[in-house]
Amino acid sequence: MQDLAMQFSEIIVNSLNAESNLITIKIEDSDKKDKIIFEVKDNGRGMSKQFLEKLTDPFQSSRKIRKIGLGTAFFKEMCDLCEGEFKVESELGVGTKVFSYVKKTNIDVPPMGNIPDMMMAMLTNTKETDIEFTYKTDIDTFFFSTKEIKKILGKDVKITNPDILVWIRDYISDGITKCKGGRL
Ligand SMILES: Nc1ncnc2c1ncn2[C@@H]1O[C@H](COP(=O)(O)OP(=O)(O)OP(=O)(O)O)[C@@H](O)[C@H]1O
Ligand SMILES: [Mg+2]
Repeated sequence: MQDLAMQFSEIIVNSLNAESNLITIKIEDSDKKDKIIFEVKDNGRGMSKQFLEKLTDPFQSSRKIRKIGLGTAFFKEMCDLCEGEFKVESELGVGTKVFSYVKKTNIDVPPMGNIPDMMMAMLTNTKETDIEFTYKTDIDTFFFSTKEIKKILGKDVKITNPDILVWIRDYISDGITKCKGGRL
């Protein structure tokens, strides 16, 4: 079973592939709500109503619309298995919103995995796409935006520079650790 970070990356890669220039990612890990919530919003090409019906009901007739794609199908299956939910809203030419959660104490919830590494891998592929990332717990909220980083870096240094990516990964890692109350 893939960890949550790997599964989240499937959804984010879909947004990256949709030629979005802004992707907003939110992960909320809440004991109070007994939920791990994952939301992604993009302003990419979007999907038509017909396509979306097949996407959220992938085992019905997905073969007609795609060859090998199972990213969202597996994700939805995981959410259902973990007493959660997976919902997608989309509009052609406007963008897509994914809302999902799993019940945190459900025995089938995969481990969180490495969110900072996953985010670094996503940023490697961003090119012109900006990413806003929020990580929330019952204790604190961490926010990260590539726009802010780009402002600091100026024109000469690219966000995809390996040294910058490692710095961002550590920054996100510290932010998440603080949100967990300092626990690693
Ligand atoms: N955010 C999105 N914006 C636009 N289209 C999307 C988005 N997410 C998914 N899609 C469309 O739905 C299809 C199915 O997505 P899914 O992740 O299930 O499979 P895939 O991306 O085709 O393949 P895989 O994820 O297995 O590599 C995509 O090919 C794409 O056409
Ligand atoms: Mg995919």
